[in-house]
This record gives sequence, C-alpha cells and structure tokens, in this order.
Amino acid sequence: MDFRSDNVSGAHPAVLEAIAAANHGTAAAYGDDDWTRRLARRFADLFERPVTVMPVATGTAANALALATFTPPWGSIFCHAGAHINVAECGAPDFYSGGARVVAIDGAHGKLPPAAVEAAIHREGDVHANQPAAISISQATEIGTLYRAEEIGALAEAARRHRMIVHVDGARFANAVASAGKSAAALTWKAGVDALSFGATKNGCLAAEAIVLFSEPPPERAAELAWRRKRGGHLISKSRFLAAQLEAYLADDLWLRNARHANAAARRLASGLERALGVAPAEPVEANEIFIALGAPVAKTLRTAGFLFHDWPGIGEGGARLVTSFDTSDEAVDALVAAAGRARG
Ligand SMILES: Cc1ncc(COP(=O)(O)O)c(C=O)c1O
Repeated sequence: MDFRSDNVSGAHPAVLEAIAAANHGTAAAYGDDDWTRRLARRFADLFERPVTVMPVATGTAANALALATFTPPWGSIFCHAGAHINVAECGAPDFYSGGARVVAIDGAHGKLPPAAVEAAIHREGDVHANQPAAISISQATEIGTLYRAEEIGALAEAARRHRMIVHVDGARFANAVASAGKSAAALTWKAGVDALSFGATKNGCLAAEAIVLFSEPPPERAAELAWRRKRGGHLISKSRFLAAQLEAYLADDLWLRNARHANAAARRLASGLERALGVAPAEPVEANEIFIALGAPVAKTLRTAGFLFHDWPGIGEGGARLVTSFDTSDEAVDALVAAAGRARG
C-alpha cells in the first residue's frame, strides 16, 4: 500500500542470493575481482558494443561523477527544471565538477526541448561566461514520460553543434527500455548519448548503479572517471558485492522483467483511477509513475485508510504522485482504486 517511490521496495531475492553467493572466500578489493571483470562483457552484450562500466552505490554519485568527467569547472550542464540533478542532489554535480553550473530549463511533459537548450547558450567562446559542456536528460523522465530515440537524437545534434556531450540519468532506465520496446543501444549511443547513469537500485538492487561511457576515445575518460570515483569516495573496497548485484540484475533479463511488472502496475493503477474518479492522469503514464489530481477529499480518505503517496502540487486539487515498483501487487493497486471509488461516492 506504499506508493511513495520505487525506492521504498526491498531488493529482489535473486539480487540478495547473488550477494550471498559472492560472500565466500576472499577476493581482491577495489574492483579487481572476477565479478567486476565479468561486468564489462555483460554490459558490452547489453549495449551491443564495448563500453566503460563503473559501478557505484548511489544514483547521485553516478550522475555527478559522469557529468564531472565531461564538464570543466567553468562548464554549464543543461537539464530540465525538474531534473534530479537540479532539485534533489544537493549540488553534487556542481561539487564534483569543481564548480560547473547546472542550468535548468522548462519543457512540456518533463522533457528538454533542444531549441530551448540552444536558446539558453549565451556568449559561447567568451572568456567571461560559463561554457556549454553537457546536456543531461532523465530517462524515464521525472514525471514518468519517455524520450523517444528521435527526441534524444535531436538533443544530441544540438549538443554537437556546441561541442557538448549528452548524459542520461537512467535511474529508471529499465522502465524506459521496457516501455519503449527499443533496445538499450537504440535509446543511448545509437541516438548520440555519451554517458549513462544506469540505475538498478530502484528496480530490484540493494544499492548498485553503473556509470556507462560510450564516448570515443574511451581510455582517457575511463581513467579520469576512475580517479574521480576514488577521489570522490565512491570506490567501494568490497566491490564484488556491487558487481554481483548488477550481474544478477542483468541475468535472465531480471531488470526488464522487473520494469515490465512495475510499468504494468502503473498502467493498471492509472486506468483504474480514471474509471473510479473520471479523472485522467496529468501526464501520459509511460513508465512507473502516475501524477493525478485525486481531489482533496479522496486524497485525504486514501491517506486515512493507510495508503502512502506524495502530494504533488500544481496539477490540481489533491494532486498526488503514485509510484509503482517491481514488487507492487495487483491487490495493492486494486485496493487503492476501490478505496478511491468509495471515497468519491
Ligand atoms: C531521476 C533520479 N535520478 C537519480 C536518483 C538517484 O538517487 P540516489 O542518489 O538517492 O540513489 C533518483 C532517486 O530518487 C531519481 O529519481
């Protein structure tokens, strides 16, 4: 009955089993272990090309370290106003880059319009001004919508015109891939993405994300990223346990199966609420988040009945954010819908 976030779920049993299985004997520390070595092959298979992959324990670290690797202290990072890097990372990208500026831009459906990014670039080449360095998008977006591959491609073209890189905050990348029905490659490097924060914690890991670099030439950037990760305090000594989580997450498409479940639960919830309340979600439900004006009395009744969710101002009376997860049950969804219907009367 907890729809506050996908972070409120525990870890998937297969992930916990993989951690337990890795918990035998000794292994070299700091990523010089078999589990971490195998990740390179796993991610190369997933992305249909060699990539640099570096595990970290939080999404904030993944975003900040990936962006810092491509952004000088005098650089600008363009993102949507609602982006996690702008509103929920306590300035980590600014900090890890040594002072770069995050530039927030509005856009419909949680997406960054390429023209608005280019319009926000001022005084390129002027030594007195911050210089364009990166575009960062969230996929799925912060309001549960998706960027199509063509939309990413258009942003990448704008980025190239100003010698910027494209970074994807993929805290919900699995939900996006599962929903789009496109390959991980099609939604990243084939569309012009240079760096991805490949999220896993929200979708079944205990604490594991991977920074994935696609750019050519990778060796210098990979080395830089490695030093940044250590200097930033994110090189985990017992790294085998991070890698073991990611290995289990990718094995047998667990990541996609989990995401499909969460996405299906969100669709079930959205259509159920629409039927029960006669109110459509404020944004298309394309991943595992629903933003909907429940009406103040319904929101209050649901809370009193023990349903947990976040208020979401700005989308109407009783605005709420409801997030589903890999372990959200149909029973919980149906119970919320039924309670909403009763509350409406
Ligand atoms: C879009 C997005 N990016 C990144 C993160 C990473 O967060 P954390 O540093 O808490 O793992 C989150 C978590 O809520 C998120 O929603």
